[in-house]
Order: sequence, then C-alpha cells, then structure tokens
Amino acid sequence: MAKNNKQTDPLAKLVALCKRRGIVFQSSEIYGGLGSTYDYGPYGAPMKNNIARLWWDDMTLKHDNIVGLDSAVILHPKVWEASGHLKEFSDPLVECKNCKKRFKVDDVVEPFSAKFWKNISQMMSSFEPGKLIQPEHLPEGSPERSMTGKILLHAQLKDKLVEGELPDLDNHVYNEYLLDAYNQCPACGEKNSLLKPRDFNLMFQTNMGPVEDENSTGYFRPETAQGIFLDYKIVAESARLKPPFGIAQTGKAFRNEITTGNFIFRTREFEQMEMQYFVKPGETSEWLEKWRQLRWDWYLSLGIDADKLRWHEHPKDKLAHYAKEAWDIEYLFPFGWGELEGIHDRGDFDLKAHQEASGKDLTWFDDQEKERYHPHIVETSAGLNRTMLAVLCNAYKEDEQAGEKRVYLALDPKIAPVKAAVFPLVKKDGLAEIAAEIYDDLRTRFPVFYDKQGSIGRRYRRMDEIGTPFCFTIDYQTKDDDTVTVRWRDTLKQERIHKDQVKAYLEN
Ligand code: GAP
Repeated sequence: MAKNNKQTDPLAKLVALCKRRGIVFQSSEIYGGLGSTYDYGPYGAPMKNNIARLWWDDMTLKHDNIVGLDSAVILHPKVWEASGHLKEFSDPLVECKNCKKRFKVDDVVEPFSAKFWKNISQMMSSFEPGKLIQPEHLPEGSPERSMTGKILLHAQLKDKLVEGELPDLDNHVYNEYLLDAYNQCPACGEKNSLLKPRDFNLMFQTNMGPVEDENSTGYFRPETAQGIFLDYKIVAESARLKPPFGIAQTGKAFRNEITTGNFIFRTREFEQMEMQYFVKPGETSEWLEKWRQLRWDWYLSLGIDADKLRWHEHPKDKLAHYAKEAWDIEYLFPFGWGELEGIHDRGDFDLKAHQEASGKDLTWFDDQEKERYHPHIVETSAGLNRTMLAVLCNAYKEDEQAGEKRVYLALDPKIAPVKAAVFPLVKKDGLAEIAAEIYDDLRTRFPVFYDKQGSIGRRYRRMDEIGTPFCFTIDYQTKDDDTVTVRWRDTLKQERIHKDQVKAYLEN
C-alpha cells in the first residue's frame, strides 16, 4: 500500500527523488530523524543558494534604491514585546485529552464546518437552496438544531441564517459552536475529547548567557523583518537613501509551528527572503500594487507556470496583527494551494511601536519638504524553502523514450545546481583525457560534473534527475574532427559543436 502510494503520489515521488539524488533529505537521520527538519545536500544547497541569489540580485541590482542587510537572529527581547509577537504571534490550538495530540483550531473545525452545512442541506432537502433556516426545521436533539439556535441567538438575527451563508459571526465563536457540536479527535477518533482552544505562542525561546532566569530569555526571530525596522535609519543614512527605498534581507527564521509537514513546505526552521520598502505616508497603495506585480513576475522568471499561481487576499478579520492589507502569492502544490509569499501593507505599525518602546526617534525628516513622518512600509516576504519546493514540483517530469522511463527536473538553467556534465563515451583510447581537459577548462567558471563510470545512458539519467541542462560527450568522432555532442535535457536533442566552443556555448 505504502509502496503504491510512493509510486503514484507526486509529492512522495519528489521526496524520494530528493533523497536519492542528495537534494533534500531528513535531518539527524542516524538518530531516527527529527520531525520536520531537513538538510540540503550537494545538489539541494546550491539550488537553494541559486534561488536566494536570484532574489537578492532582483532586489539589489535591479533597484538602485534597495540595499541589503544581514541582521542578527536573536534580537533584544524587548523587540518582540514591541512588535506584538509575544502577545499576538500565536495560533489557537486544541488538545485531545485522550491522545494528547495538539491541532490548529482551523484544521480541526474546517471539516466540522463542511459537515454542518452538508448535514443541514440533507436535512432541509425539501427546502429550496438559499431558504432561511430555523432550528425547528431540523430534527430535535440534533447538533445542527442546537448549533443553528446558538448562531441565531448569538447573532441576534433570529431569521437570518440562510443555507450555505454564515451570518456575520466572529470566527472563534463559530469555531466554538462547531467544537461543541462535533467534538471528535481527528487523530484518535475519540468523541468529546477535544479541550477548549488555547493560544499557543509560536516564538522559539532560548537562554542567553550562563544564568537562566527571566532576564536571560531570548527569542529566535520568527521573521527577518524586525532587524530591518530597527536598523532602518543607520542603513538609509549610510547608503544615502531617501524614501522610497528598500532594505532586503535573507536568513533563517524560526516558528514553533503546531503542525508541520508537506515536506519542506512548513517546518519550524526555515529561510525567508524579505524586503521592506519605506515610503511616504499616502503612497502605500501605489507601491503595494507595484510590488505585487514585480513579485508575481519574479516567480514566472524562475520558470514557474503561470496557471499554477494565484492571488489570495487575506480577509480583514484574518490579518496578522501588524498588517492593514495582505496578499499572498500561492502555488498549486500536489497537496493543494499553498502560500509562497506575502505582500503586506504594514503601515507605520512597526516603526511607531519600536519608537514607543525604545524611546528613540524613528521618524524620517524630509529636508526638502521640511516635514517629519514615520515612513509607511510595504513588505514583500517570501519563503525560500517553499519557493524551492514550488520550483521542484513544477520541474518534476516523467517521460518515456524508446520504452525506457525517465525522470527529470526541467529546472531553469539559472537554478540548476550543475550546469553541465562532461562524459567520455568510454574510458580508454584517450577519450577520458580529452574529456578531463574540457572539464578542467569549465570547472572554475561553472559548477560542472565529470563522470567516466558506467553506461552512458545511466550517466545521462543521473544528470536528468538533478536537472543538469547540458551533457557534453566526447566520443571517437572527437578524435577525428575535434567536435563533441551536446545533449539538451528536456528534448534529448543532440548536436555537435567544436570542443573549443563548449565554454562559449555554456556562457550563452
Ligand atoms: N514578515 C512577514 C512574515 O513573516 P508570513 O506570511 O508569516 O509573513 C512569510 O511569512 C513567508 O515565510 C511565507 O509566505 C512562507 O513562504 C514563509 N514561511 C512562513 N512560515 C513558514 C514555515 N513554518 N515553514 C516554511 N516557510 C514558512
């Protein structure tokens, strides 16, 4: 069963390929692995670095008003008080008193909500869709009848519950009713075992220095953004920038996620690529629009299919504590749509909060207009690991050539960890020496791979599976006319070029 699943489930196939080829694999494996932590191997690490570098160049080379920063992972604890993370950065969690597992409330109640509306529509089958629902329409003693009553009572909307439409009801109140109605653990199946939701803070805590007390508590950053806010003045002054300007940073972030999973999609340690754009108050909407377009285009530039991308706007009642408006770019992963990046209007929330908490002036003085203000911030916040997962999912291909199955990663050459392989057809007759010469000429300029072992077909397959775009093969004809074959990964087409042209070919 499990084997079948691995053979057909696209994510399982990708996970197996990533392990087989040293791209990404379970961390601490010799100790049985550590949940949701991954290591990036000889082909995964350069692939991830390539994506991060493309992002960095896109930000800092294409825009002369965006500069880079590398701020600390552990900041002053007061930063997290001021930023609102200690109070607000939490997920409501439910625990099962039977199996002790913890779940995000949203994950538990979503199926309950679907069940509520499904049952209602079945129970009301004699009614027209869109008809008003009253408790007395539903069977006595049913959870649906009691829940409908509670909703109507709470919302003071006695006659306004319409099939399929939820009245304007606070999310957590609705969740509470659902938990009352259908309380059953999604893991162990025990009924009435889910406890009342509690807020669970996602910050990773540690201790700094030799003494362990409340004064030594430190936190690993849950977003890279805060370091940018703290440093914004020194960065702007040293780089001689004026709003609008941006500060870009890539680096690790840590969140004690309740539920992790889907390979590298949601982990507790991950990398972000964040850019904070400081603008004049009143100019936020215009910049938010511009950055939405630029960020969308960046994913296309990585070779991601446009029809696998979509926008999701956060409803106002689900915005993060710092955001006034938030848009996600989502990718259609094998397990469904998932967020790659958030583009947020953070307004002046962060600078004002840090000014108030630190007592330091974080306003900007515009010496031409002679006005002082807190710049407003448009944030683009992307996940590096998730982008890599999207790139991998998008690139994973299978085909069949002359009855032989093959798997390959159709990676954009910019992202491919190895740009080309050099193979002698056979080791003997001087072919290996010619191949080694070509390889030596390339290796200081490009990541290239030399392989003289095994059948040529096998060597091609190995390169296909890590997405190497070109393979140069040195055969007997090379000895006659100094030409080598170039094979292009996606079409398998081969052409002959002069061996002195190999470097220029790759450059192009
Ligand atoms: N500074 C804003 C911020 O951090 P976010 O939407 O919470 O916003 C931004 O996170 C991006 O970071 C997400 O779009 C996602 O790509 C990535 N991310 C967040 N949590 C993650 C996790 N647990 N594992 C992997 N990536 C994550």
